[in-house]
Amino acid sequence: MENTAKTTAAPESKPEKKKKLFSAIQPSGEPTLGNYLGAIRNYVALQDDFDCVFATANLHAITVRQDPKILMQNTHNLYALILACGIDPKKCIFYHQSMVAAHTELSWVLSTFTQFGELSRMTQFKDKSKTHADNINAGLFTYPVLMAADILLYQADVVPVGADQKQHLEIARDIAERFNGNFGKTFVVPDAYIPKNCARVMSLTEPNKKMSKSSDNKKSFILMTDEPSVIVKKFRSAVTDSEARVYYGEGKDGINNLMDIYSACTGLNFEQIEAEFEGKGYGDFKNAVGEAVASLLEPIHKRYKELISDKAYLEQCSRESAEKAAYIAKRTIDKVYKKVGLPRM
Ligand code: TYM
Repeated sequence: MENTAKTTAAPESKPEKKKKLFSAIQPSGEPTLGNYLGAIRNYVALQDDFDCVFATANLHAITVRQDPKILMQNTHNLYALILACGIDPKKCIFYHQSMVAAHTELSWVLSTFTQFGELSRMTQFKDKSKTHADNINAGLFTYPVLMAADILLYQADVVPVGADQKQHLEIARDIAERFNGNFGKTFVVPDAYIPKNCARVMSLTEPNKKMSKSSDNKKSFILMTDEPSVIVKKFRSAVTDSEARVYYGEGKDGINNLMDIYSACTGLNFEQIEAEFEGKGYGDFKNAVGEAVASLLEPIHKRYKELISDKAYLEQCSRESAEKAAYIAKRTIDKVYKKVGLPRM
């Protein structure tokens, strides 16, 4: 924050308004260590400095076919897990995307300000079209428009995400600018907040690919709810290289990824990690990374086990938050409809 000490502060000046933050995460399966280090951890770190709105992106999740019961269960579990990570529902708004109708309403309007060509260039759409070749539905294609609506509804200044969402943030900015250009300033143009460390946590078995819960190989990802022994075991079988020297460098994707993760867990920089494992083999290093991750997740597991059984509390939290979210969202959607020339109840 800029230093404004040069002027005498008026004794009755209002406290500075916090900037707004929005982010969301899909309940399509269980979240991974990549979700945690790339995004969720930053939600928690930023919640005191911003007015935060978070959502489970369950409308996004149905772009891939879901079993309704499992989707509902995953949504509930994800909500509890994110609270267990330290999101405080008294400070933040945190609800399920499907509870606030304005997301889909704004998405439709914004889709008319989005070009077919720009959606066709989205790498996630291209990737998912390959992995779900039997169901390349329109929702998969317009997915970034709904994401733009999520963000723009709350006039978010900042959106914490992993590096894989950068392209979607760019299109959200383009849509906001295009709409503002047509109708005058309506939306805040959001900035992505991508962490320096762990913006892209890689697969443990194919370290040139992103760690993803949708991978068929269970050894490739760490689930946030994996037991400590499972975490250590998965790290022990992580793919590395044949050099047997721990340092960050070209052609060492596996070790680079483990160093990135270890650094995020311990706060050590790469030089310190290299010094710690000087003269030691990869076995020691992989064990250390596994144990560091297990102890990072241990307090989250403990809190999660307490929260998950309290269904009434979780439902009350999400409902109360959804009401607050709907109130904020209504201001934006009313303004948008008016500007576009659409009557509204
Ligand atoms: P999703 O559910 O795939 O992932 C949630 C968040 O986790 C980050 N992430 C990763 N970060 C580092 N390394 C990884 N291997 C890794 N895998 C996932 C993602 O970048 C993301 O920040 N479209 C979004 C959900 C969404 C959203 C939004 C996000 C819907 N509306 C509005 C921000 C704003 C998604 O699929 O994230």
